[in-house]
Amino acid sequence: MNDEKIPRTMGQQFGRRSWAEPWKIKMVEPIKMTSREERERAMGEAGYNTFLLKSEDVYIDLLTDSGTSAMSDRQWAGLMLGDEAYAGSRNFYHLEANIRKYYGYKYVVPTHQGRGAEHLISRALIQPGDVIPGNMYFTTTRAHQELQGGTFVDVIIDEAHDPQNEHPFKGNIDLGKLQAVIDRWGADKVRYVSLAGTVNMAGGQPVSMENAAAVRALCDKYGIAVYLDATRMAENAFFIQEREPGYADKSIAAILKEFCSYTDGAWMSAKKDSLVNIGGWLAVNREDVYDVAANWVVVFEGLHTYGGMSGRDMEALAIGIEEQVQDDHMRARIGQVRYLGELLEDWGVPIVRPIGGHAIFLDARRFYPHMPQDEFPAQTLAAELYLDSGIRAMERGIVSAGRNPQTGDHNRPKLELVRLTIPRRVYTQAHMDVTAEAVKAVYDAREGARGLKMVYEPKYLRFFQARFERLA
Ligand SMILES: Cc1ncc(COP(=O)(O)O)c(C=O)c1O
Repeated sequence: MNDEKIPRTMGQQFGRRSWAEPWKIKMVEPIKMTSREERERAMGEAGYNTFLLKSEDVYIDLLTDSGTSAMSDRQWAGLMLGDEAYAGSRNFYHLEANIRKYYGYKYVVPTHQGRGAEHLISRALIQPGDVIPGNMYFTTTRAHQELQGGTFVDVIIDEAHDPQNEHPFKGNIDLGKLQAVIDRWGADKVRYVSLAGTVNMAGGQPVSMENAAAVRALCDKYGIAVYLDATRMAENAFFIQEREPGYADKSIAAILKEFCSYTDGAWMSAKKDSLVNIGGWLAVNREDVYDVAANWVVVFEGLHTYGGMSGRDMEALAIGIEEQVQDDHMRARIGQVRYLGELLEDWGVPIVRPIGGHAIFLDARRFYPHMPQDEFPAQTLAAELYLDSGIRAMERGIVSAGRNPQTGDHNRPKLELVRLTIPRRVYTQAHMDVTAEAVKAVYDAREGARGLKMVYEPKYLRFFQARFERLA
């Protein structure tokens, strides 16, 4: 696609600073403002875990961008075209055709959401004792790899662990680290590399095309496969377009497909990039891998032509895939995230740099340098933000990192972050202003903050359900 064909915003056409959403609002959902007293009560009942708050007690919900996007009128119309046949729904074939068209993979297995696909690919590929190198762990991805008896090894570049490092592609894999994993365990123990587009836990940081090609070339030498977490790969394509030489005039759609061509398949949480409230898929190029996954899907999710989604969900997803790659959509999506981030930076609030794709990540270590990591600084910060203004964010630090399955000790990540995740097409610029003012107020009050102690800890993915109390 050449330059002229990529839609330009008015700001771009005339060299002005503004950007704007390529849509207007047709339906609204009221949100509730609460008093400080109500928020104190709600936070106490939720055990200082924002996942345990009731949504009606939240004013601006930045917990996650997962399943929280607003669908377009085309997607809502698509719901009415749901073919709810148990087998062979026409919406499945539409979805399959669009995954083939936009991602380029041959075989498609629908799942109810991303972790359903992670389960299937982990079951299909991992043998007990295997090692899975990847560009920083993701909670559910690693949980499924470990449940199959695998061990995840982080091979992301060192810059990713430094919240102030300005590397343009902090999601890249360090080829030296990957080579060292292969040398240490042997290629037969490394069945695949787990590569994620815009690395969530690093702050939404992208992977370059050059790095994907280099990982592919290294893996080809050893017969190792490369599987992609494509959850926010369209956002990753935006950063390649913006930052990588040779891609400025290529469309998001073309970049997405080229990137996927370096991989053997992908799992997807469609609840992010693809602008739907539920859904996921696994797509692969190898028929034997597909056969295993398509067999397990009927045990865990549903028949291989719906995999836990209704026909109407698959239709909305098929349409969402077309909308997610539109260049003007992506500019506005990332433009909004940047608007919030730049405001916070102007006010001196410490955030992860460079600003990533789906969220602003507050650096809780720099908010609360007096608080040891075992007192959960990021969990504390997320609670304080809610108490200030009813804004719900999420911890991405020691709580999310869980425990080492061998030693039982906390994993202690270098990054101790709070994620302000921006749902797509949902909030206005004024909501971003309210959020920035609330974060600034919590930052100004940082010296008096006291940490938390964990009083309930579930065995798996503890951040979802753990409970805390304030330290005296
Ligand atoms: C990078 C990444 N991979 C996988 C998943 C899992 O997807 P889901 O929440 O749809 O199960 C998520 C979502 O939280 C994610 O952000």
